[in-house]
Amino acid sequence: MTYQLKILITSDEIRNAVARLAGEIRKDYEGKQPLLIGILKGSFVFMADLIRRLDLPLEVYFVALSSYGAAKETSGKVRVVQGLRALIRGRDVLVIEDIVDTGTSISFLLDYLRKKKPASLRLCSLTDKPSRRRVPVSIDYLGFTLPDKFIVGYGLDWNEKFRYLPNLCFLEG
Ligand code: PRP
Repeated sequence: MTYQLKILITSDEIRNAVARLAGEIRKDYEGKQPLLIGILKGSFVFMADLIRRLDLPLEVYFVALSSYGAAKETSGKVRVVQGLRALIRGRDVLVIEDIVDTGTSISFLLDYLRKKKPASLRLCSLTDKPSRRRVPVSIDYLGFTLPDKFIVGYGLDWNEKFRYLPNLCFLEG
């Protein structure tokens, strides 16, 4: 495959967005001890940057879901690869995503968590692609709305490549 990588959102713009989101979250969770759940693998870079700006007595957990495999399109079926060991009941749970695309993955996880009766359940996503939505999802804290392009970098991959890029880029070609 021949393709070109083009920068869509720079690392500076990402840094500013992370600071803004951290400010919103810090204000809303003041006096609380939120439990943050990152969705692997895509969210790990965003999670690492975000928590260092939160200044809250938070806990970090990760859950691995998978639906894309090596394909560019979601299969529509979400598999739980690695379960959650965190105790959800009565906790203020904040789920951290890198991207909401069709909404399949996140709506599956939010339904799963809701059944465990958290005190509160919110979603923070670095990016959103509303043009691709199949399942309605409400995002409480959002960094960027993206065009319908295949995005890589800052944790997001294509076939496990490009997660290391500091900018959010799109693949053209
Ligand atoms: C990506 C991304 C989201 C999901 C969004 O994960 O990290 O979790 O797809 O797509 P959806 O809204 O259509 O469900 P992916 O399955 O590619 O795994 P990864 O994070 O390990 O790359």
